[in-house]
Amino acid sequence: MSAPKKLFIKTYGCQMNVYDSERMAEALGGEGYVETKSPDDADMILLNTCHIREKAAEKVYSELGRFKGLKAEKPDLKIGVAGCVAQAEGQEIMRRQPLVDLVVGPQSYHRLPEMEAKAREGEKVLDTDFPEEDKFEKLKNRPKAKRGPTAFLTVQEGCDKFCAFCVVPYTRGAEVSRPADRILREAQDLVERGVREITLLGQNVNAYHGAGANGDMTLAQLIWELDKVDGLERIRFTTSHPNDMQDDLIEAHGTCAKLMPYLHLPVQAGSDKILKRMNRAHTAESYLRLIERIRAARPDILISGDFIVGFPEETEADFQATLDLVEEVKYGTAYSFKYSTRPGTPAAERPQVDPAEADDRLQRLQSLLTKQQREVQDSMVGRDVTVLFEKAGRFPGQMVGKSDYLHAVHVADCDRAIGDLARVRILSSGANSLAGALID
Ligand code: SAH
Ligand code: SF4
Ligand code: F3S
Repeated sequence: MSAPKKLFIKTYGCQMNVYDSERMAEALGGEGYVETKSPDDADMILLNTCHIREKAAEKVYSELGRFKGLKAEKPDLKIGVAGCVAQAEGQEIMRRQPLVDLVVGPQSYHRLPEMEAKAREGEKVLDTDFPEEDKFEKLKNRPKAKRGPTAFLTVQEGCDKFCAFCVVPYTRGAEVSRPADRILREAQDLVERGVREITLLGQNVNAYHGAGANGDMTLAQLIWELDKVDGLERIRFTTSHPNDMQDDLIEAHGTCAKLMPYLHLPVQAGSDKILKRMNRAHTAESYLRLIERIRAARPDILISGDFIVGFPEETEADFQATLDLVEEVKYGTAYSFKYSTRPGTPAAERPQVDPAEADDRLQRLQSLLTKQQREVQDSMVGRDVTVLFEKAGRFPGQMVGKSDYLHAVHVADCDRAIGDLARVRILSSGANSLAGALID
């Protein structure tokens, strides 16, 4: 038998890309590839790219340029670009960087084995279609390898919201939900391989409306089906749009024990003028009322968010409205970004905020969010939480896991195994994690 070929995948961007990279590795596993941690001994290098940040494409080109020496030494090395930059740039990538053998958009990963074979024969291959078929259903060369206790599972992809700043509707395409039976089979399979916690992924996951046995299902209905899977202990989902937060999903946060008390619900801004220009289709007030309803269903839920500062025409007063909203919500964690133009999106053409002003606002917002994050984390001290252990800690006998609220928790003198759940009393709060002790 010939030695296995080696595959090096570098993943950028969101959790969906992490999930996609796993699927690509499995698909190429069926073609005799094993993963390697270094590009130096790879027979194939795949960059799974993200287009959400400024100069994303430029960064990909410079990353590709670094493989020049490797390719010169190893003419058989194949280099591929996948993900959202592949979708956005397409043919341009091969034109600008002749090192590249293969360009594959996010909706075509099931065609990767064929593409790889063509690339091996010296062809340049490109596929950035949006085919109808379910790519994950076709990506079936899955070895039954054991896995860690947590996994992502994509249930929905693409987005129809067209927020004025965002490339996702262009790179991931229209919103599509996977049928429930396939998701349930995949969840069952993950549990058999050792997974205890599944995070359901979608660009707009709470818009899920996949086919079920009795017509389309909501995300809450899907969660209740997953609740029945023995051995699956925890369910999370991300990312949600405020306008798709349906009643049954809110209710599930209060009634489904496996659904974790953590919700990522981006608002982006606190000024109604800016929200309107962002095409968000909600107001600050409607968002705040929504948070109230969610907290009524699950009082201890940890709220997480995304923010953009310096969106075109944002004034100091608009920015102040964002700070006011943050004060009112009290976020347990948050991601905040300075607006950056994405060519092809509606906001790209509008008058930009002075970059120094935007930097200053970002700093002010981040210091408020960091303070809140710390307060919420500190408020865990003295409380009992459930921890799912994910790995050994740095010190002998120490284990590290995540609480229900997704805080990292270090536990000393811990005789539990990876994948175990245990009740833990929180004793102290550090810079980015909590420390606790096993209760019984
Ligand atoms: N589907 C998710 C996330 C999309 S991208 C959602 O709707 O919430 C993740 C985050 O990146 C967004 O929530 C937004 O805060 C940020 N983002 C997207 N485009 C951006 C841009 N052009 N400039 C700055 N931040 C952006
Ligand atoms: Fe982008 Fe999210 Fe808006 Fe969709 S809902 S356009 S993914 S920010
Ligand atoms: Fe980036 Fe594409 Fe995800 S642009 S954030 S990798 S959907």
